[in-house]
Amino acid sequence: MHLSKDLFGADFEWGVSTAAFQVEGSHDADGKGLSVWDVFTTKKGKILNGDHAQTACDFYNLYERDIDLIKELNIPNFRFSISWTRILPEGTGKINQAGIDYYNRVINYCIKQGVEPWLTVYHWDLPHVLEVKGGWTNREAINWFSEFITICAQNFGDRVKHWMVMNEPVVFTGAGYFFGIHAPGRSGMKNFVPAIHHVTMSIAEGGRILRKLLPSTAQIGTTFSCSQIEPYTDKPRDIAAAVRADALINRLYIEPLLGMGYPIKDLPALKDLKKYFYPGDEDNLRFDFDFIGIQNYTREIVKYSFFTPYINASMVKAEKRGVDLTAMRWEVYPPSIYHMIKKYDAYPNVKKIIVTENGSAFPDEVTDGEVNDPKRLKYLKDYIAQVLKAKNEGCKVNGYFVWTLTDNFEWAEGYHPRFGLIHVDHATQQRTVKTSGRWYAEFLK
Ligand code: FCB
Repeated sequence: MHLSKDLFGADFEWGVSTAAFQVEGSHDADGKGLSVWDVFTTKKGKILNGDHAQTACDFYNLYERDIDLIKELNIPNFRFSISWTRILPEGTGKINQAGIDYYNRVINYCIKQGVEPWLTVYHWDLPHVLEVKGGWTNREAINWFSEFITICAQNFGDRVKHWMVMNEPVVFTGAGYFFGIHAPGRSGMKNFVPAIHHVTMSIAEGGRILRKLLPSTAQIGTTFSCSQIEPYTDKPRDIAAAVRADALINRLYIEPLLGMGYPIKDLPALKDLKKYFYPGDEDNLRFDFDFIGIQNYTREIVKYSFFTPYINASMVKAEKRGVDLTAMRWEVYPPSIYHMIKKYDAYPNVKKIIVTENGSAFPDEVTDGEVNDPKRLKYLKDYIAQVLKAKNEGCKVNGYFVWTLTDNFEWAEGYHPRFGLIHVDHATQQRTVKTSGRWYAEFLK
């Protein structure tokens, strides 16, 4: 089959995604406060090769050049996030006008170049001063976040039509508050469980605030990571382990937001969530989003594990399964995105699905001024074909965004995984469009 964008219909939204912390750099410029990630990256042993993001892709200064590149690649939609500590250096209270001015410049330049801005309000960079007060484990976080999102709506809502309240809650609470491998580096159920509830409440409240302040103009969404989960064998205990893993990885946040409650029946380890409920929370967990962003990269094979506490399930690593791998050691498995679209489409109340991230990292190199990346090219084509398959079967999927524009700071993995359509030489900030980027431009023409 020849893949053409016409097969998706004229109203299908094509785009590319980034996140503030991963590209901006200028971590303390123009009055910006420090986020949990600014602090976490200074701690020894947390980030591969001791990398940090103080310069990253220097998007803070080079945003015009990068938005020009988006235009050159014919990409109509650009998803990026707002750094909370540029706007509110102390987390709450005093507004830093230079931060507002910066995002106004970025938004205005997008519009000038005919690129539609899609805003993620929160992509993991909580102000450090708020983490000192307990971060997401503190119920006050709902008020802190409400203040931040209100300021974003008031300042950017006249021009920004597409909003995503938060990015991948299960990743930043799981990695940041249970495993301690992401900022702020806290671990255990005592941190994870309250963080889950306060984050879910904040997502719903954030949705309500956007709808109240931007009633007729905003398309309001939020994004979820998801992976197809399959049991290692058809033994009942592996099947049951896969059900628990699915509840944690794919269902934990979307179900309460859709009004279905937390999936505690399938994940009894989270029964303590109820302890953090205040009267009225049951109803307030729900918000009627205009669209759901799903972000899929791979699938997971799960087996029963006696030794893994709480969940009694573990992943069978892709490198032990003899499958194609990316630089993240994630399996290349295009049908996963099809199954995830089907899964989320089947929920009642999901009005529209946008794939807000999909992409792959490989060890790309510049040779004679070119970056030839056949594996990424094949990955993109194969995953996009699976999105089309779901759409043709009637799923309400209506957009696809590549992760990501430029090779950037990949959290605990540092700069080693290169996810960009555009190669970045991190020493010189030289950009080189990869073969995959040229293909996407041709596809979108
Ligand atoms: C997602 C994140 C994004 C990026 C990709 C590879 O989990 O949302 O910031 O790191 O993975």
